[in-house]
Amino acid sequence: MNKMKVVFLAVMAVAVVAVTSCGKDDTKDANQAAYDAADGVRGARLYDHALNELGITGKAANEYSNYYRCKTCHGWDLLGSSGVAIGQTGSTTKPAPAPVDLMEVRANDDIDEIFEHLIATDGPSFDTFDPNHKNEMPAWGTILSEDDAWDLVKFIKETAHDVSEFYDMDISSGHAVFSNIGKGGDAAAGLVTYNANCASCHGADGTKINIYCKGEYLGDMFREDPHEIQHKAIWGMPNDVEHIAAGCDQAGMMPAQNITDQDIRNMMVMGQDTTAFPGAGGDE
Ligand code: HEC
Ligand code: HEC
Repeated sequence: MNKMKVVFLAVMAVAVVAVTSCGKDDTKDANQAAYDAADGVRGARLYDHALNELGITGKAANEYSNYYRCKTCHGWDLLGSSGVAIGQTGSTTKPAPAPVDLMEVRANDDIDEIFEHLIATDGPSFDTFDPNHKNEMPAWGTILSEDDAWDLVKFIKETAHDVSEFYDMDISSGHAVFSNIGKGGDAAAGLVTYNANCASCHGADGTKINIYCKGEYLGDMFREDPHEIQHKAIWGMPNDVEHIAAGCDQAGMMPAQNITDQDIRNMMVMGQDTTAFPGAGGDE
């Protein structure tokens, strides 16, 4: 009898181990399949402005949308407080930059770990805005579907640019100073790409769209906002609900563009020419 019991327990133990480890493998496989099917370009747009990309309205988060955009806390460069967002002190309109570097997360964390962070339901709510917790990672799991979260994982893990391939940046003074914008790009080639892809909407000299109706043009952005150019020039942007609501008739959405990273560098160099691409200058 005793022997039977021991054998029985041993068999059970093996079975339990088999079931749990098989369960783990199943999750891993399912996660990998979801990741493989995910869309990193949509992830880029969610990273820019998830509320607008998802068409979410009527929540407290819409009124405080800067506190609910990945890019505001983590930076267009994903580097958080060690990147372009460093000068952002945290205010009534903008959160402090996050003290984590998502490029390190990309290098060190596997897709399952990043997914868990994005599907978590703890953290500041989208329904009420609490100033005491405004710098914390919101409860994304309450508004993102699993597919949305995977698109973001793919963006962080794969699609997002290593911005050092586009420009140099010195943050030693406490704010970002750019140099070498468009690293090794070719202005003439950039103009060919620009004319074929961008001029119809932005105009031959980049002034057809008055950005945010603030008297800023693409020329300004090429020179002052290369961190934002490297993102929006290729992945576009979701509908600009805030500026439309503020009455800006130039605001809207920009579709993703079928261009390469080298095209971006070429256009960045092209855009340094203040005669060909005039701007307001010094608005930022
Ligand atoms: C209001 C600021 C804020 C916003 C908005 C925000 N985050 Fe975060 N995030 C943080 C902070 C602070 C941390 C570090 C503490 C933590 O893990 O909660 C963090 C941590 C993370 C981590 C985990 C990093 C690690 O240590 O492994 C990931 C991944 C991440 N954020 C991605 C995103 C994405 C993607 C979005 C947009 C969908 C987003 N965050 C929006 C503030 C923010
Ligand atoms: C179908 C029209 C269209 C095309 C094509 C297009 N854009 Fe845009 N783009 C827009 C609109 C509209 C906005 C303004 C959105 C807003 O700010 O409300 C915009 C915004 C931008 C911004 C960000 C400015 C901001 O609002 O923050 C950049 C950068 C930009 N475009 C670059 C480009 C480049 C480079 C190309 C070509 C590769 C391009 N666009 C092609 C319509 C277009």
